[in-house]
Amino acid sequence: MYLPSFSLKGKTALVTGAGRGIGHAIAIGYAEAGADVVIVSRTQSDLEKTAEIIESKGSKAYIFEADVTNKDHIEKIFETLDSKKIRLDILVNNAGMNIRSKAMDVSDEEWNTIMNTNLRSAFWFSQKAGKRMKEAGGGKIITISSVAGHVALRTGVVYASTKAAIIQMTKNLALEWGEYGINVNSIGPWYFKTPLTEKLLANEEYLNDILAVTPQKRVGELPDLVGPAVFLASEASNYVNGQTLFVDGGMTIQGF
Ligand SMILES: NC(=O)c1ccc[n+]([C@@H]2O[C@H](COP(=O)([O-])OP(=O)(O)OC[C@H]3O[C@@H](n4cnc5c(N)ncnc54)[C@H](OP(=O)(O)O)[C@@H]3O)[C@@H](O)[C@H]2O)c1
Repeated sequence: MYLPSFSLKGKTALVTGAGRGIGHAIAIGYAEAGADVVIVSRTQSDLEKTAEIIESKGSKAYIFEADVTNKDHIEKIFETLDSKKIRLDILVNNAGMNIRSKAMDVSDEEWNTIMNTNLRSAFWFSQKAGKRMKEAGGGKIITISSVAGHVALRTGVVYASTKAAIIQMTKNLALEWGEYGINVNSIGPWYFKTPLTEKLLANEEYLNDILAVTPQKRVGELPDLVGPAVFLASEASNYVNGQTLFVDGGMTIQGF
């Protein structure tokens, strides 16, 4: 028998930004693969909708209304998980946002907001989860980066810098924690229709520019991301470490 299991049965995953978009889809995909899911965002009503779907799949959902830029909120989440003896097998650092200012217009406030949401939070969640996974003998950490962290796009310099840093952070954590049985990998999406991108994608000219550089000639559908997210969370990826898997319809492989 060579085929390892893609099942997440018996595992618990924490997904940040699980109220809508990509995080919502991954949280539900994990429940479909058998995992219980800890879901985090600032909007209780969104989390309740995600939780209802997770529970309809026969998995448990644990809701945390929290701001990932607030380190006290992160502490509180892990204290609660510890006090309820909920072990963490999988962490997905997904919460993210963007303000698309031109480099010459970026303010200090924008810089801090984007950095704290996209990068700083992913580090503190990883540190907290990594310590527990080390004690437990292993785990899987997945970061959601972006094609924008690999090539220069019109997404804004601060966002792109956070995503490039996430790709590097993923490699460094993988290097330090590989010996503890912790795999740290990243998923780098190209354009997916979510509340973050729907206005951009509704602009026909912008959409056509995207499709022109996408070999598969379409934007991503959320299940296109859930497959890789389940793979990287399951034992099927046990020897994959420090990698960024671009889920991009081939966008990043082109030369001329
Ligand atoms: N969509 C794309 O095409 C695309 C492409 C490449 C990479 N990505 C990355 O994929 C990730 C998800 O993007 P998305 O398109 O799904 O975005 P989205 O639709 O805007 O959803 C973002 C989620 O993150 C949560 N969030 C944002 N700031 C937060 C904070 N400070 N504290 C707690 N939760 C917070 C939001 O909930 P609240 O606002 O209610 O807190 C929401 O649930 C991001 O890291 C993004 O950069 C997306």
